[in-house]
Amino acid sequence: MAPEVVLLRGFAVATAEYAAAVDLVAAAAPFRQLQTPGGRPMSAAMTNCGALGWHSDARGYRYEPCDPLSGLPWPAMPSIFLDLAQRAAAEAGYRDFLPDACLINRYAGKAKMGAHRDADERDFSQPIVSVTLGAAATFLWYGKLRSGSAVKIRLEPSDVLVWGGSARRGYHAVGQAEGAATGAVRINLTFRKAG
Ligand code: SIN
Ligand code: FE2
Repeated sequence: MAPEVVLLRGFAVATAEYAAAVDLVAAAAPFRQLQTPGGRPMSAAMTNCGALGWHSDARGYRYEPCDPLSGLPWPAMPSIFLDLAQRAAAEAGYRDFLPDACLINRYAGKAKMGAHRDADERDFSQPIVSVTLGAAATFLWYGKLRSGSAVKIRLEPSDVLVWGGSARRGYHAVGQAEGAATGAVRINLTFRKAG
């Protein structure tokens, strides 16, 4: 879809295992609606697993070692998640990916995500590995500029998108889960080396 944005169709095959792992994480660290630094609620619900978890509130976007809801460390990253992320990164040409953060986004109803870039991490030589589970959605790749024309692709369940190198700080967005009006839910796993 763009240089250094690699789509691995159907790569995340063990969907039932991944869904069960998401449920276990969410039992310990429930999905919640975060607020932007400007005080607006984000429509996708979020939780995390791994050593660091992405968080947003009036103090800004950042990574936290503990879940601010419970004060406890985020649930450990399931080994099947780490394995999936490392295999996908290697397939896209990143051999030494060691993610310490897995953000889990849940899109139900009208939830979607506007154009942004992933820029709260320390090391931009490490890629982003993004996994779609559940329902499909349209992913928009803007690249260097936040607005203008985007390349659109339909991300289906089990698809994995990897971006890095010159694309690492590219702008992107995602639409509503397909079938959301009748109850479909999309889950996205985003693996990053954050710390
Ligand atoms: C994100 O960019 O954080 C989420 C992308 C997605 O849900 O596919
Ligand atoms: Fe993102």
